[in-house]
Amino acid sequence: MTDAPDAPPTLDIDELLTRTPTVRRRLDLSRPVSRPLLAECLQLALHAPNGGNRQNWRFLVIDDPETKAGIARHYKSASDAYLAATPPAAMSEKAVAGVRHLADHLHEVPALVLACVHGRLPADAPLARQSGFFGTIYPALWSFMLAARSRGLGTALTTVHLAHEREVAALVGLPADEFTQVALVAVGHVTGGTGFRRTRRRPLDDVMSWNRWDS
Ligand SMILES: Cc1cc2nc3c(=O)[nH]c(=O)nc-3n(C[C@H](O)[C@H](O)[C@H](O)COP(=O)(O)O)c2cc1C
Repeated sequence: MTDAPDAPPTLDIDELLTRTPTVRRRLDLSRPVSRPLLAECLQLALHAPNGGNRQNWRFLVIDDPETKAGIARHYKSASDAYLAATPPAAMSEKAVAGVRHLADHLHEVPALVLACVHGRLPADAPLARQSGFFGTIYPALWSFMLAARSRGLGTALTTVHLAHEREVAALVGLPADEFTQVALVAVGHVTGGTGFRRTRRRPLDDVMSWNRWDS
């Protein structure tokens, strides 16, 4: 790609799908993201498929420094606990460094999008309900990330703070008995140009089979 460092990237759909990584170390912490730009990405995200088209989602965008700092404290504590419990072989050193970097700097990330679903899932909910409950918002989150990427922004979809869901709910005045937090997406402009390599994935043959389950 030959885009100027500050220009939004020109990506065809296949490039957008294969070159939208989780951005942790390349989020520009010194450059705010405008509210209209964030709203534009969310507006596009609302067209994603969702359960029964009920659209029972809410997106709370947090750009207030004090609120971000409060969330970041809970994020850091949850992330440290997560990393402490992760066997060294399960993650590369580089990946651990990236996760740590985001946790150390979350309060400086320009905007955080807290994605929530209306309701609470009973612990014994049937599988179809569990899948529908959390799954209803993920297509919209991915659409948001793609829309952001195509506008020169980077995102990191995270869930680790959910270990402290109630504390974060209290910080932002979210009624935790009525709404379930599903993910927190960190958003910023990116440093080092807008180009990203293809995300690394296992070969299709390892994960796909035709007609019969192939172990
Ligand atoms: C459901 C879900 C939860 C995730 N939670 C976190 C998280 O809490 N912290 C984090 O740094 N990354 C998180 N990620 C990002 C993944 O680690 C990342 O997508 C994966 O390592 C592949 O890297 P890539 O997106 O750059 O290709 C999450 C991704 C998904 C889909």
